[in-house]
Amino acid sequence: MFSSTPFVLSFALLLSLPLLFLLAPRILPPRPLPISLPDELDDLSLFHKATIASLHQSQSTSSSLTHVVRTSAKSKIAFLFLTNSDLVFSPLWEKFFYGNQNLYNIYIHADPSTKFTNPPTGVFKDRFIASKKTQRASPTLISAARRLLATALLDDPQNSYFALVSQHCIPLHSFNFFYHSVFSTPTPNLLNRFGVEKKYRSFIEILDKESTLKDRYSARGENVMMPEVSFDQFRVGSQFFILTRKHALLVIKDRKLWRKFRLPCLNTESCYPEEHYFPTLLSMEDPKGCTHFTLTRVNWTDSVDGHPHTYRPAEISPELIYRLRVSNSTYSYLFARKFSPDCLTPLMEMADTVIFRD
Ligand SMILES: *[C@@H]1O[C@H](CO)[C@@H](O)[C@H](O)[C@H]1NC(C)=O
Ligand SMILES: *[C@@H]1O[C@H](CO)[C@@H](O)[C@H](O)[C@H]1NC(C)=O
Repeated sequence: MFSSTPFVLSFALLLSLPLLFLLAPRILPPRPLPISLPDELDDLSLFHKATIASLHQSQSTSSSLTHVVRTSAKSKIAFLFLTNSDLVFSPLWEKFFYGNQNLYNIYIHADPSTKFTNPPTGVFKDRFIASKKTQRASPTLISAARRLLATALLDDPQNSYFALVSQHCIPLHSFNFFYHSVFSTPTPNLLNRFGVEKKYRSFIEILDKESTLKDRYSARGENVMMPEVSFDQFRVGSQFFILTRKHALLVIKDRKLWRKFRLPCLNTESCYPEEHYFPTLLSMEDPKGCTHFTLTRVNWTDSVDGHPHTYRPAEISPELIYRLRVSNSTYSYLFARKFSPDCLTPLMEMADTVIFRD
């Protein structure tokens, strides 16, 4: 009897080996998702509310033709500020918005882990939305952008375009110029039979040729993105975009791609989820509804550690503004980044004479 014990033991061990392999993924704690479950549920509930509200809004607007005509005349642009520091260029933006009260709304997502002062007066006062922590090389920047889109969709049915900008962005033209640029570019031949509803396109960069694309695709592990996103479907583009209402809604409704893009990266060097999620999703769902380029100018010459060139006060001149506006597309650039905080003074000095002068 004693002699058989080691045999039984080792036999039992042998038997349990395959079981161990089977159960290991369940027993070992999974790699934590960068987005916690409570945060995920909060977002889902917000996105759901915004989706339902938009459904009712579109039903009520299409029920009466006159209503459509009247409301389309007052289309607004939602400016979505995504920031983790004070908005140092707010005096310049104040000037930009001045006198256009009924044509825009402002929403600010400010990382709660940084100190942020609610300005006592002005257009940024009380425009903060319920925000959560954001971090580079994680999907938290996607979540923050989606939170901004959902809040703006829910807040005002007149919000027709949604422009995402950061605290390092500045305007390159007047509000008037901006407004007319985005609204004067509907796709031709898509007027409906009443001639009132135009189909506008989103200004979002969508690129499929970039040397680091393969590494970025595999940042979460080999084949992890399959079957939802094949490498052929994977795209890259600027983090900053201007989306139509239809596309803003499409983005907050998405669950399928989000399940993949929210996974943590194994390779953090190639981890820029926010530069992939939006271009990939829109290029899969509605490529013709997008211009495929951004209206936010950025200078990647001599970029360091994934950061673009940051302009310093010595570089600020009217010629720089004129140069930054020039694009290779038919549209002029409307915003530019990045600028160091001390550029505010030289920029303000030429706000009226250069930047906002059309
Ligand atoms: C882009 O940045 C480089 C320095 O990194 C600078 O020499 C160049 O003038 C900048 N280009 C523009 C258009 O500002
Ligand atoms: C325009 O295209 C040329 C050639 O591809 C490129 O060198 C240049 O940087 C582009 N300019 C802008 C403003 O994107």
